[in-house]
Amino acid sequence: IMENPGGNQTPIVELILIGFGNGPELQPFLFLLFLVIYLAAVAGNLLIVVLVVADRHLHTPMYYFVANLSTVEISYVSTTLPRLIGSLATGDRTISLQNCYVQFHFCVILSTTQGHLLTAMCIDRYLAICHPLRYPALMNGRVCCHMVAWAWIIAISYTIMLEMLSLQLTFCGPKEFNHYFCDFAPTNSFCGESKTLSIGTNYVSIILINMNFLLSLTSYTCILISILRIRSSTGRQKAFSTCSSHLIVVTVNNMCVITNYVVPVFRPSPLLYKILSVFYGNVIPLINPVLYSLRNKEVSQALRTAIQKLAAFRH
Ligand SMILES: *[C@@H]1O[C@H](CO)[C@@H](O)[C@H](O)[C@H]1NC(C)=O
Repeated sequence: IMENPGGNQTPIVELILIGFGNGPELQPFLFLLFLVIYLAAVAGNLLIVVLVVADRHLHTPMYYFVANLSTVEISYVSTTLPRLIGSLATGDRTISLQNCYVQFHFCVILSTTQGHLLTAMCIDRYLAICHPLRYPALMNGRVCCHMVAWAWIIAISYTIMLEMLSLQLTFCGPKEFNHYFCDFAPTNSFCGESKTLSIGTNYVSIILINMNFLLSLTSYTCILISILRIRSSTGRQKAFSTCSSHLIVVTVNNMCVITNYVVPVFRPSPLLYKILSVFYGNVIPLINPVLYSLRNKEVSQALRTAIQKLAAFRH
């Protein structure tokens, strides 16, 4: 049982999110920066979702996964950034502990779902490339729906488990929280008789992350092997071009997940951790739609068609 340093004081009901310091000259710049990141991430991902829903050519499991991932990205930036942007604008950095918990739980649900969706995308590409003949039978709308549903079910049950744990804990400070959103994962802000429970959730999260990671790695390896086996270089290029944007997105995301979990072990400075988590949580969602729309013929074709339709509609 840990000592509760704040035991005799009034319980903490409000936190101060330190964010990116309080240098007044930096705030307008940060405000603009995060506003631009937020708007661009939402607009780009929204565009992907609209294209996939509207264009019949994109009604395939691969793009359903992409659209679902974009939905998750929109929700993720919308749980973390608006509050930060607001506090940069007003200078008010307080947040109630209640809101902090809500934000934290949404972040956990969304980032866990994101991890599962990325794995599902890997498996989808693996089946398409390594078992092209059986692909239509193995991966159809129904299977895709199930995979998406399970991504959410696992993430939500994991978060409920986390919720049970945090109900038994008291938040004992410090009141100044050195991050830009309520991410309790890298901190030691709780006290109570919870050691075993917290070890339990740690194991579960490690199992989930490793499971995703191993599945992705296996799928990659098989994809690479079968691409390298193709004799003709045009065939190789064709196989590679159908999955290169996915591979890039999944690689970048997995590398970020790894940094996000490995870096805390080395106890980095809070600033470095914050920058990494901005990159991981908010810049990557920005990159995904760019990767898909610029590198992918089907998506850029759908975009062109949509623009033509819009132009025709206006005349
Ligand atoms: C997410 O996936 C489901 C199941 O495949 C699909 O029906 C749905 O349209 C997808 N969501 C979006 C926003 O495209």
